[in-house]
Amino acid sequence: MKWDSSFNLGLKKIDKQHQNVIIAINALETAVIKNQTGDMLDKVIIALDAYAYQHFDYEEKLLEKYLYPKLDVQLDEHSTFILKIKTFREDISKNENPRKLGMEICNFLRDWFISHILEKDKKYLEHLKSHGVQ
Ligand SMILES: [Fe+2]
Repeated sequence: MKWDSSFNLGLKKIDKQHQNVIIAINALETAVIKNQTGDMLDKVIIALDAYAYQHFDYEEKLLEKYLYPKLDVQLDEHSTFILKIKTFREDISKNENPRKLGMEICNFLRDWFISHILEKDKKYLEHLKSHGVQ
């Protein structure tokens, strides 16, 4: 998937992290298209997990610092995602129909990414900007 200008929140660090998440999703998609399986899929998903974790951690600290009133909703969204990735890794380790599983994971990630940025993150945007975060 390509970076789209509608993904830009205008918060430098967060935009950069979101771009890295897309790069990781694309790496996973490439691995699936090339029919790479098992270990390779797991490696790519570990990288994706690391980017997501880094991003969530940054986001949460910022929202805590500026007392975002709906922090709990954002925390829930993050832990749901982390659990989902854990489940995917367990599924990958079973190595049954990795291509189909890989496609499913990519579809999930694309949908998740768009809803994460365009719905969830846009909700805290005004709050952070009103505190001067850039
Ligand atoms: Fe985000």
